[in-house]
Amino acid sequence: MSTIRLEQITGSDADLKAALTDAHLPTDDIEDSGRTFFKALSADGQIVGFSGVERCDGDYLLRSVVLHPDRRGTGLGKAVVEVTVASLDPGGGVFLATTSAASFFASIGFSEVPRDSVPAAVLATRQLSSICPSSATIMKLIKPPT
Ligand SMILES: CC(C)(COP(=O)(O)OP(=O)(O)OC[C@H]1O[C@@H](n2cnc3c(N)ncnc32)[C@H](O)[C@@H]1OP(=O)(O)O)[C@@H](O)C(=O)NCCC(=O)NCCS
Repeated sequence: MSTIRLEQITGSDADLKAALTDAHLPTDDIEDSGRTFFKALSADGQIVGFSGVERCDGDYLLRSVVLHPDRRGTGLGKAVVEVTVASLDPGGGVFLATTSAASFFASIGFSEVPRDSVPAAVLATRQLSSICPSSATIMKLIKPPT
């Protein structure tokens, strides 16, 4: 499917924190329990970016998707999302909140959903309940990556 390989890291990983900070993505809660983060490696072993997931009862919040600036725009971001989603239990819904990349996620099969249709456990995550502005777009994976 892709040449991207994920390796699990902890929320205290300094490179993860730096990449999120540089991209203005939330870092306040990355060391809380219940989150799983990955570094994404290209075929030649270079770190191209990061991703993360939070388990929300049976569903997931996809978060912390970031590509190193010099690796953007070549399809790697899409590949990182697809590999991350492929690692999840297919029975769970996959949600995310974004203020800046809705069309990127739409190109992967996510669609905007109304807040009142989002499971309570997803809404209760720190990302959705306090860190992301209420104007953030909430999206759900409707079409699984092919
Ligand atoms: C968003 C991000 C992960 C995309 O990674 P990328 O490697 O540049 O994206 P890709 O090259 O895989 O692009 C896939 C598609 O999305 C589009 N796209 C990429 N970034 C986009 C953006 N910010 N807004 C809208 N569309 C975007 C591309 O044009 C491409 O469309 P196509 O398939 O029709 O050609 C990357 O720009 C990034 O790290 N941004 C900063 C962090 C961020 O905003 N993360 C999202 C957090 S919610």
